[in-house]
Amino acid sequence: MSTLGVLTGGGDCPGLNALIRAVTVRAIELHSTPVVGILDGWRGLMEDRTRPLARDDVRGILARGGTVLGTSRQDPYVHGDGYDSLRPTIEAHGIEALVVAGGDGTLRTALRLYEEAGLPVIAVPKTIDNDIAATDVTFGFDTAMSIATDAVDRITTTAESHNRVMLVEVMGRTRGWIAAYSGIAGGADAILIPEHPYDLDEISRIIKTRHSGGHTYSVVVVAEGVDPPPGTELELPIDSFGFKRLGGVAYPIARELERLTGFEARVTVLGHLQRGGTPTAQDRVLATRFGIAAADLAAAGKFGTMVAARGTEMIPVPLAEACRDIRGVDSELYDVARTFFG
Ligand code: F6P
Repeated sequence: MSTLGVLTGGGDCPGLNALIRAVTVRAIELHSTPVVGILDGWRGLMEDRTRPLARDDVRGILARGGTVLGTSRQDPYVHGDGYDSLRPTIEAHGIEALVVAGGDGTLRTALRLYEEAGLPVIAVPKTIDNDIAATDVTFGFDTAMSIATDAVDRITTTAESHNRVMLVEVMGRTRGWIAAYSGIAGGADAILIPEHPYDLDEISRIIKTRHSGGHTYSVVVVAEGVDPPPGTELELPIDSFGFKRLGGVAYPIARELERLTGFEARVTVLGHLQRGGTPTAQDRVLATRFGIAAADLAAAGKFGTMVAARGTEMIPVPLAEACRDIRGVDSELYDVARTFFG
């Protein structure tokens, strides 16, 4: 192969630098393939902004959050002429394989470019949301879920002192993985996720029972993607992938819980804190393994595939399979969470 490209698209997540390092070192050391980093996701391919990646360029980045290549939500189909807007950069750099690390939006674009124009893509599932189908887990999730758990723990001690209902809103877009895991790990008294419709009368009964039983506080974890309470509406801007920019749904829910329970409610929206900072050891190792597998698949010419974590293995799956669905929290996990409500 003449050159391997690597691109990080969509929202950043902890572990991206571990991935870039692994792809680069494996391609250079094992496959004798030079690597070029594409800057700012698809935008770099559209504007021919790249940088060569040598072994020394990726030293010292393993534990750093974010992505040294930058990222964007620019899309060649939305903001350009599809593959035609990438072709000049691909040809100028002799890119014969492209590792694309992305979430839902980036991977769908990669699939379309592969199917319509034969772009030689190897995909890697990265997102704190953990919602990519065909893989057991995405990297970035472990760090986000750990940060959210730490927040729930901290909110709990201040809640205890004030006889309050505390709502912690976490990211995850249309899926409730971060909410479910951090809620279970933090011992939340209720967890609201988009996969399971919630009933505020039921939640307020849980809270009132807790407080009448002598507990002085309740902690509720709210996934940002749940619907606002009936009769309320959130005005949300649309991002450049066409997704709603979520955030703030916990505020109307808190107002409604105050009304129903009579207890004061407070909201903490964790936001981008969940994506920042150093990745956990788990995410560093996971991203490294994804990167090694992606470089090997590129060398083997297995294009149109995504690296998937299945059990203890890293295996290639058709990218089309991964893009067919958005993976949500199943009822078995939610039932584990519900067992501890109240
Ligand atoms: O998809 C990752 C994610 O962090 C979501 O959980 C969140 O809704 C979204 O990205 C935020 O996007 P942005 O950084 O563009 O505001």
